[in-house]
Amino acid sequence: MKEASENQSIIVRTSPSLALIKYWGKTISGDNIPATSSIATNLHGFYTETKISLSKEKDCVTINGSEVLIGRFTPFFNQVRKELHTHHYFNAVSQSNFPTSAGLASSSSGFAALAYGCAQLVDSQAPLNVISSLARLGSASASRALFPGFTVLKRNSLHAEQLYDQAFWPEFRIIIAIVKSGPKKISSRHAMEVSRKTSPYYHSWLEESECIFSQALPALDKKNLKTLGPLIRQSYLMMFGTMFTTMPPIFYWEPDTVALIKTCEDLREQGYSIWETMDAGPQVKMITLKDNCENVYAILKNKYPHINFVISQPGEGPIIVNEPTHTS
Ligand code: DP6
Repeated sequence: MKEASENQSIIVRTSPSLALIKYWGKTISGDNIPATSSIATNLHGFYTETKISLSKEKDCVTINGSEVLIGRFTPFFNQVRKELHTHHYFNAVSQSNFPTSAGLASSSSGFAALAYGCAQLVDSQAPLNVISSLARLGSASASRALFPGFTVLKRNSLHAEQLYDQAFWPEFRIIIAIVKSGPKKISSRHAMEVSRKTSPYYHSWLEESECIFSQALPALDKKNLKTLGPLIRQSYLMMFGTMFTTMPPIFYWEPDTVALIKTCEDLREQGYSIWETMDAGPQVKMITLKDNCENVYAILKNKYPHINFVISQPGEGPIIVNEPTHTS
């Protein structure tokens, strides 16, 4: 094991993990273990960049210029110390090039960058599965963001696994509509816990989502969007079914969200293979293939000139922007 000395720092960049098949709900163990199996891809071009330094006194996290309450991070940092056998504290300064806490999976890229950077500083030989498991404690979707290409996080699992690398499906495209960029009123962590406790559909969701997951795996393997697309749609709509039936109900959608969902339906009627998905926020992510992408993008931009659309594709895993360096 190679451990860094005091005053070293590292800068890590990680892309957010977009679920095609959703994780929503945890086991009751209290260790942030998912109760549903998810399939995801990292979003190329979107990233969180985090500078992590060793600290003698305390853990400290600054996100987009503001120091945040450390409580959410404490179990994560404590586990990093335990798992990687270090006594160090960490100081993290993080910035994203996309809106945070707005349903664009910023906690996945944030915790993935943090876990990867901490590990590189204190034990650069730490296996990726261990780092993925540490990231999971911060945010379960972050465990997926540690791997490039397409990943899976199975229910009851401690860490994610890579399914296919970044070059697996070169035609795969994601058009992201940034409908509204303000922070959401209710975090996904809190929302899924209230869903578990109060939605009468929650247990059906747990069962049905495994059926969707097991059908999605061979469809992805065959790169068959005709089969995968309806499963992507079914997964997010069933997840929202549990949200809408939570007490009190959880609504992340905006009028433009609904309009875009309807537009996707119209585009499919016109023969385009385009399948929307959504997370805990109003943004709509539309999955399509390279051949359709430019046409569909032009149609969307023309119909919704006030919305920012960004085209992405399966992204990389963590990137070290600079190797550990002495800061003083
Ligand atoms: C809707 O990973 O943010 O984006 O584990 O509590 O931090 P915590 O939740 P988080 O939830 C992501 C939920 C989702 C679906 C998904 O990414 O699979």
